[in-house]
Amino acid sequence: MDTPTVPYERAFIFSAAIRIFHWLRALAILVLVITGFYIAWPFLVAPSSSDVLVQGWIRFAHIVFGFVLCAITVVRAYLFFFAKSDIERRSFKDVTSIKSWIVQLKSYLWMGHLDKKGVYGPLQFVTYLVISLIAALICITGLVLYANVYHLGLGGLMWEPAAWITAQMGGLAQVRIWHHYFTWVFVIFVVIHVYMAVWTGIRFKHNSVDSIVSGYDYHPKKH
Ligand code: HEM
Repeated sequence: MDTPTVPYERAFIFSAAIRIFHWLRALAILVLVITGFYIAWPFLVAPSSSDVLVQGWIRFAHIVFGFVLCAITVVRAYLFFFAKSDIERRSFKDVTSIKSWIVQLKSYLWMGHLDKKGVYGPLQFVTYLVISLIAALICITGLVLYANVYHLGLGGLMWEPAAWITAQMGGLAQVRIWHHYFTWVFVIFVVIHVYMAVWTGIRFKHNSVDSIVSGYDYHPKKH
């Protein structure tokens, strides 16, 4: 017996640049959370030990991936505004439409289906906007901490603005605490983000997780 063909259609949604930066950013965040928590609580070496290399290497990895994250944050903002495909920019139309919000929130409660103009729903768009702003803030506070440790080269160049930001935030301890709080925002975001990516794939019969690997979305044909 022939298997019935499911009426699915395929759409190209994520360019190679968007996919590469997504996974690079995921890797950077993973390394930064792990090394960052270690910097905050360096439990591997006894306080009396003179072995400071463990902390040094972990801090080195943190800073390398920190600069990677800074670069991606800038490039990704550029791509949002200037990429050839307007599929991300088009999603903004849904954010400004009350009807779109209602359709999306209802679809999460199993009432009706998603109907969006771009690639993200309005709640998803706002969530990504907030996490991008937090990424910018964690980069800025990270660079301020960096400028306070490395006084030559780039660190020296950033000294003046870093000192100004430190003063505005109420001292270096506050900068460090905020950098730490923002880390928790990322931890919470990643858990919800992965859950929602898998859940929407199942709920709306899309291949949402694989689309950020292949670039293609498969979804049931609209009648
Ligand atoms: C998702 C991104 C990031 C996460 C999750 C993260 C996490 C952390 C955490 C938890 C700490 C320890 C704070 C404490 O002492 O309680 C830390 C310290 C630090 N971070 Fe980040 N960070 C990120 C991005 C960056 C960036 C972009 C830079 C800049 C290049 C950076 C530079 C630093 C520096 C210089 C320190 C202090 C190191 C030290 O005191 O030895 N971080 N980070």
